[in-house]
Amino acid sequence: MQTHEIRERFIAHFVKAGHVEVPSAPLILDDPNLLFVNAGMVPFKPYFLGQQNPPFASGTATSIQKCVRTLDIEEVGITTRHNTFFQMAGNFSFGQYFKEGAITHAWNLLTGSVADGGFGMDPDRLWVTVYLDDDEAADIWEKKIGLPKERIQRLGMADNYWSMGIPGPCGPCSEIYYDRGPEYGADGGPEADDNRYMEIWNLVFMQNERGEGIGKDNFEILGPLPKKNIDTGLGIERVACLLQGVENVYETDLLRPVIDVAEQLTGATYGAKHADDIRFRVIADHSRTAMMLILDGVTPGNEGRGYILRRLLRRIIRSARLLGATGETMERFIATIMDTMTPSYPEIADSRGRILDTAVTEEKAFLRTLESGTHLFERAAESVRSSGAKTLAGDQAFALHDTYGFPIDLTMEMAAEAGLEVDRAGFDALMAEQRDRAKADSRAKKHGHADLSVYREFVDEHPTVFVGYDNLKAEGRVLGLLQGGATVTRAAEGTDVEVILDITPMYAEAGGQLGDRGAITLGDTRLRVNDVQKIGKKLWVHKATVENGEIGVGEQALASVDEGWRHAARQAHSGTHLIHAALRQVLGPNAVQAGSMNKPGYLRFDFNSARALTPEQLTEIETITNQAVDADWAVNTFETSLDEAKAMGALALFGENYGDRVRVVEIGGPFSMELCGGTHVAHSSQIGPVSVLGEASVGSGVRRIEAYSGLDSFRYLSRERALVEGLATSLKAPSDELPDRIAQLTEKLKAAEKEIAALHRRQLAAATADYLKQARQVGDFTLLTARLPEGTAGGDLRTVATDLKNRIGAEPAVIVLATADDRGKVPFLVAATGGAVERGVRAGDLIRVFGGPVGGRGGGKPDMAQGSGSDASGIDAGFRAVEDDLRNR
Ligand code: ALA
Repeated sequence: MQTHEIRERFIAHFVKAGHVEVPSAPLILDDPNLLFVNAGMVPFKPYFLGQQNPPFASGTATSIQKCVRTLDIEEVGITTRHNTFFQMAGNFSFGQYFKEGAITHAWNLLTGSVADGGFGMDPDRLWVTVYLDDDEAADIWEKKIGLPKERIQRLGMADNYWSMGIPGPCGPCSEIYYDRGPEYGADGGPEADDNRYMEIWNLVFMQNERGEGIGKDNFEILGPLPKKNIDTGLGIERVACLLQGVENVYETDLLRPVIDVAEQLTGATYGAKHADDIRFRVIADHSRTAMMLILDGVTPGNEGRGYILRRLLRRIIRSARLLGATGETMERFIATIMDTMTPSYPEIADSRGRILDTAVTEEKAFLRTLESGTHLFERAAESVRSSGAKTLAGDQAFALHDTYGFPIDLTMEMAAEAGLEVDRAGFDALMAEQRDRAKADSRAKKHGHADLSVYREFVDEHPTVFVGYDNLKAEGRVLGLLQGGATVTRAAEGTDVEVILDITPMYAEAGGQLGDRGAITLGDTRLRVNDVQKIGKKLWVHKATVENGEIGVGEQALASVDEGWRHAARQAHSGTHLIHAALRQVLGPNAVQAGSMNKPGYLRFDFNSARALTPEQLTEIETITNQAVDADWAVNTFETSLDEAKAMGALALFGENYGDRVRVVEIGGPFSMELCGGTHVAHSSQIGPVSVLGEASVGSGVRRIEAYSGLDSFRYLSRERALVEGLATSLKAPSDELPDRIAQLTEKLKAAEKEIAALHRRQLAAATADYLKQARQVGDFTLLTARLPEGTAGGDLRTVATDLKNRIGAEPAVIVLATADDRGKVPFLVAATGGAVERGVRAGDLIRVFGGPVGGRGGGKPDMAQGSGSDASGIDAGFRAVEDDLRNR
């Protein structure tokens, strides 16, 4: 049974039982604790926790969620069942059916006949586990389903109690296993052997909330959830492996074609050697994960998600090379996996070009790193070996990483292959130091201190109400004051303070828009607000300076936004939306937003693209943007449901976790529609002119457009005009003739430079004849010493010396040339003819003899050496020293 069909059967089974089908969420949601969505329940978290009501009347849902888990990346290919990307099929009940419903639904689908839409699994091969004291679940399995008691095993917290690994919903679970037969391992059920007994489905009886803690079994349980829920996860790839009768999850219909391509490209054979098989599987697994991550907007980088993607791509490349590939392979791998995945994920088709571009660009860059890095690694390894040690020091690994971009895991792998170890702890310590420095810097900038827990009591007690879309002034109560990271009750004149208000009109930095500036006043007291930041999306923190009087907790204060600031901030933010829309018109929907920043008068917009924009594209973007300004479209903002907004085609920023109600900003109907919480102008003409400054790369695969908006745009254009006028005046040409005039001037300049160079050469040649006359006999040698005119370049010394040597021919002769420049430098040169070298003269030795008196050093070959000194008054003494040296030979 093909994977695609397994997916369809799963969904059909649960839709038939009244569940609402929910499409997979992107792999990235805005949860700082979660790198990637790692379970089917993640998008439903607020419903489990009772923070939101599920938006489906049945209270039940089903989905097939894209998941990425990279914790056990090293296991890929070694075990039979670890995929870094997998599809988790689940059914969810929010306060509806519980254990019995979940168990029955699962059993019916697994053992139901193929003709009836089931998976047709042999019931005698199925085993289950339940949590230690979960008699209720054990009873259902035994009495209701009729599973023999000996195939129901009880396991502890680490195995049968599920949570996301971070605070959130949790509960005991029951797992269903498939017995692959004695050829796969020992008898004794899942408890004894989890290779032979493959876990296929986890039924979680979600009923508690977990707190902080570590690992699978060491955390606090905070208490029961408002309702008893069901969360299940069936591994689509594992079921595919079983139903397709293949050995492991890498050989199913979706991944096997990549292995086949890898065989063609590398010349190695799958199934011949265990070590090679692992590499084939790594290629297949990682190609898919990388492709799906790029699809969802991740670009290779050096941190967080970007780093994981980079690491996956690099592991593919290394594996292919170890299998024997010599050139580029990425394009074929990614194209193949896109072909197999597109039937289930049709959106891949729209992004094909972008995905290939991203992966191939990274491959090219890495192949270059690999070439230089391998060389450096080998040198480091060699020096370790020759010193008799077995460990590459932490600072060596760090240098490879920091200076040459050589990733640590690669250093570790290569070291292992070379029979060496790496001082990982030493490396980690150096990395941590570097990271801490960077983090401390950025956090200090944003919050002035590192510990955010002081805000916790305020977040819990009273989130701030923001009224700033419609008001620029609002009265609020001072809920809290902070200084130096600690709460205080009063703040005195002249001090800096963070003010937390219950109501505020001031916009806090979010969605790329900087926080408002303004004032907080009460009576004679006046605070200047320098920045506004949001904590946990709920608390507005006004960073302010008490300019007059003092302020205390509990007082009523008037917060007012600086109107000029807000006006220009609106222009910049609406301008950003126009640039985004224009960019998509020019580049197509593949121009995925990667970030943005705007503040009064200025905006920048980052997007994923492997290529630079052409000047024509940039002009087109600027033109479309300003036409949109000119169209004077109304800017509409409204709230709606997330589904509705998406159905209307509103663009959502990737990685944002939007609530159920979202705010949509629409400019010119279909022209621009985005989910956005920012402040905007009422009509597009209020944005004023937008001037694009340029476009540049800001990291691998990410480009940035920068622009001025509003009056700053006008000032910029006016400065440019003044510049052009200035040029026109000094070149005495009307402005439209400037390009031609400058081109002519440049041409002239080039011709003049050529002429000067020729003249110079002729001068040198004439002087050479003069120097030749100064030659004299010293012992067995002809010695020629000359002081060249001040300012002669070092290169000219060479030209003259070569010319002299040619004229002198084979007779034993030594030439010493020196000059001085106006900065007190004394370049000098010693040359020896073939005849002189034969008699034992070494220019490299004589350069030191000369260098002494002029306070300089130098070096070179036996026939020519150059140096530089600092004391021009020693030149004659230097000539004499060389003369003495020659005479005494
Ligand atoms: N959330 C459960 C899991 O990921 C189903 O295993």
